[in-house]
Formats: sequence, C-alpha cells, structure tokens
Amino acid sequence: MEKTSKEIYVDRKRVIVTRTDLKGIIEFANQDFMDISGYSLDELVNHPHNIVRHPDMPAVIFKLMWKRIQLSQDIFAVVKNRAKNGDYYWVTTKFEVRRDPLT
Ligand SMILES: Cc1cc2nc3c(=O)[nH]c(=O)nc-3n(C[C@H](O)[C@H](O)[C@H](O)COP(=O)(O)O)c2cc1C
Repeated sequence: MEKTSKEIYVDRKRVIVTRTDLKGIIEFANQDFMDISGYSLDELVNHPHNIVRHPDMPAVIFKLMWKRIQLSQDIFAVVKNRAKNGDYYWVTTKFEVRRDPLT
C-alpha cells in the first residue's frame, strides 16, 4: 500500500536559495533547501533541479518558467515540491537571471 504523503511545514522565516546553470543543474543549495527537502548538498549539487519536482505540478508551469528565464524575466510562482521522503512542501519562487559579464 502506498504511504500517504504529508505536507512539510515551511516556516515563513526560511528562505530556500538555489542556483542552477542554464540547463537547471543545481550549482548551489543553502541549508534551508537541504533541511526542508531532506537532500544533502552532495545529492543536490550537479543534479537536475527536477529532483524535487512533484508529479502534481503541471508541466506547462515549467515550460512557462523556462521561457521567462530565456527572456531574463523574473517569475513569481507557487510551486509544490517533493522532498526526499515523498512528502511535499510549497515554495514561492523568485528568480533572478544572471548574465555573466564575461560571456
Ligand atoms: C533556478 C531554478 C530553480 C528551480 N526550482 C524548481 C523547484 O523548486 N521545483 C521544481 O519542480 N522545478 C524547479 N525548477 C525547474 C526544473 O529545472 C525543471 O524544469 C522542472 O522540475 C520540470 O522538470 P522537467 O524539466 O524535467 O520536466 C527550477 C529551475 C531553475 C532554473
């Protein structure tokens, strides 16, 4: 029988910070990201960000997200993520697209 997943309470004071490359491969994750998702830094860094993707999230949201990233536009979205243990948590995203001045 499948275990029912529970919502992980995320304190509003917690700020999940993550940085990826242009393909969505995680380059940096802060302690709050690790604590809430249950993944270690090793499990996150150099892995695709869809590691926390929840199957309830419609693919179209991410399509739109990537479109906006390509246009260097900010995105505010509420995303349901899946933790390592199968439970879920909600995050409000804010993206900042950085262009390296040397490239
Ligand atoms: C900076 C950044 C943060 C992201 N954060 C999340 C996230 O919290 N949850 C998530 O499911 N996808 C996140 N994504 C999108 C994933 O890279 C991925 O596109 C998404 O999980 C859908 O998976 P798929 O592209 O394999 O269909 C993020 C992407 C970027 C660039």
